[in-house]
Amino acid sequence: MSTDQKILVTSALPYANGPIHLGHLAGAYLTADFYVRYKRLTGADVAFICGSDEHGVAITIAAEKAGKKPQDIVDRFHKMNKEVFEEFGISFDYYGRTSSDTHRETSQEFFKKLYEQGFFKKKVEKQLYDPKKDMFLPDRYVKGTCPNCGFEEAYGDQCENCGTSLSPTELKNPVSALSGEVPELKETTHWYMPLGEVQPKLEEWVDTWDGWKANVTGQVRSWLNDGLSDRAATRDLSWGVPVPVEGGEGKVLYVWFDAPIGYISATKEWAKASGEVDKWKDFWQDQNTELYHFIGKDNIVFHCIMFPILLMEHGDYVLPKNVPANEFLNLEGKKLSTSRGWAVWLHEYLEDFKPDLLRYALGSTLPETKDADFSWKEFQSRVNNELADVLGNFVFRALSFTDKYAESKVPELIEPSDLDRKTLQLIEGQKDKITDSLERFRFKEALSETMELARIGNRYFTETEPWKSRKDDPVSCGNTLNVSLQICAALSMLLEPFIPDSAAEIRSQLSLSDEFSWSNIKAGILPKDHNISTGKILFEKIEDEEIEAQLEKLENRAAENEDAVDLPELRDNIEFNDFMKLDLRAGKILTAEKIEKSNKLLKFTVDIGVEKRTIVSGIAKFYKPDELIGKQVCVVANLAPKKLMGVESKGMILMAENPEGDLRFVETDATPGSQIS
Ligand code: MF3
Ligand code: ZN
Repeated sequence: MSTDQKILVTSALPYANGPIHLGHLAGAYLTADFYVRYKRLTGADVAFICGSDEHGVAITIAAEKAGKKPQDIVDRFHKMNKEVFEEFGISFDYYGRTSSDTHRETSQEFFKKLYEQGFFKKKVEKQLYDPKKDMFLPDRYVKGTCPNCGFEEAYGDQCENCGTSLSPTELKNPVSALSGEVPELKETTHWYMPLGEVQPKLEEWVDTWDGWKANVTGQVRSWLNDGLSDRAATRDLSWGVPVPVEGGEGKVLYVWFDAPIGYISATKEWAKASGEVDKWKDFWQDQNTELYHFIGKDNIVFHCIMFPILLMEHGDYVLPKNVPANEFLNLEGKKLSTSRGWAVWLHEYLEDFKPDLLRYALGSTLPETKDADFSWKEFQSRVNNELADVLGNFVFRALSFTDKYAESKVPELIEPSDLDRKTLQLIEGQKDKITDSLERFRFKEALSETMELARIGNRYFTETEPWKSRKDDPVSCGNTLNVSLQICAALSMLLEPFIPDSAAEIRSQLSLSDEFSWSNIKAGILPKDHNISTGKILFEKIEDEEIEAQLEKLENRAAENEDAVDLPELRDNIEFNDFMKLDLRAGKILTAEKIEKSNKLLKFTVDIGVEKRTIVSGIAKFYKPDELIGKQVCVVANLAPKKLMGVESKGMILMAENPEGDLRFVETDATPGSQIS
């Protein structure tokens, strides 16, 4: 059944610093699994690869917080995450880890090859250094304000607000995440990837992209417009893959250099375990292979720019055919936050419900083109009103009717009516739509077209009224059952990518084999007289109490974590004279409008008594412009002007950040212009 088509699918390697939650699933794992399960059914030769990302500052910071060694942290979460993915039915062919020997060797060889080709620029540069902790502050060890969007919690390697990749020295107002100190600059040597120099080559490839999602191409185009710059491929850290060249002692590869190579090393390990050591090459080095990276939007820059550049420079590897990145998932209307306990952990979900229910509910609300929200109430209504009332109900009606009145045998189709024939045709009609959506990475649409077939079945069953025709027109009754059972059979296959356990259960009720292919799905799967088993309820309804219990759990944990919320540490004392350098004024907002092209920034005219000022502020997420007019606020009036998205901002409106991360005004009723001190 195997075609020659090789398909390599990867899901972002999750950091082994915590358990998997719904946000992870909706980003990089569930859709990849839908796709892979579908592709396997088409007969393609698929490798579905994932594993733990075990390096980088995300790990060492988690270890420091827990008072443990990095190795203990990654051992614990690697095991836990691997198991929970399995339980949830994410059908990886291999789940590797970047602390493995194969990975160290593979990523060191990769680095060495580029090094020998003269790809890297060796630079001696000043980098941020924490004198208190006596260490350099790469990546997440330093936080500060994003030079691109003004977000104040940007990390030294990336701003999670706008996605831009950063160097620590680019951050405004950098602060050490370890000590809260303002870092010093200290000289160190590193190897840089000259991304700007290879940008033209990358652009040639980007121009060939076909069928990529708009959210992905949009981000990539905008970074390319800004122009790429040099990025260090090495770090002054002890946790990671040691830099394998002269002068690299005491340094490791940058985590975003080694982690994507983890896809390759995991594929090697998979090949070895399967007994065909060289099989990995068929997937990575054969230009006919289709490579797909499934990721969340914060990973776009790495998978569409940095890693492809490395693959190109290396020269032996295929480039991705598509990177269907998803946006973010919110939870009950609020941003997911693991530190604030605002998350649903997959292992906890699985204690209460079956995998398919979440696979369906989440599959129906995927953040495919924009951020989406998961709510327990919606979960309940998807399960009760769609899985139970539509799909479950239809299958149960068709099977139990056949069981009761047709001796559990598929009746022959005899002189079908127009409606019978049209309904049968819809099976293939729906299948074509579903196939088309899956091919275009429109999973929400694919799932809803699948459910549509169950709706079609339900309507047809009701309309043909077999409970009546049973007595006065047995042939027509037999036709209704035949057509309905054919729909059930098609559903039992079409649903396989999405809700595999339930699909298998339907097949078992229909006495259908689990061996089938996508091309087998057609109008007449069941021959006449095929024996079926008794219909059983597929989905139990979820009671209100069960949902309330989940909401309560969420609220309780958020409350528990409230005290644990890290309020920023107090800054060091300053002299009174330093304070007096600030010119703070009372002001009144006269106009407020959104800055186009930015979903963060608002532009204000503020009356500060002595004059009227244009001020830009990154609060569009928290307030609508209209509600701000007339508000009396505090303004830093002598802050040096700064251009934000092309608008010159003169000064800053004081805002307080509450523990939920929302920004709030510091209001005053003083006359505009009054000096605050
Ligand atoms: N660990 C990263 C994250 O969670 C993803 C790494 S993907 C890989 O954001 F390509 F680097 F493997
Ligand atoms: Zn930013």
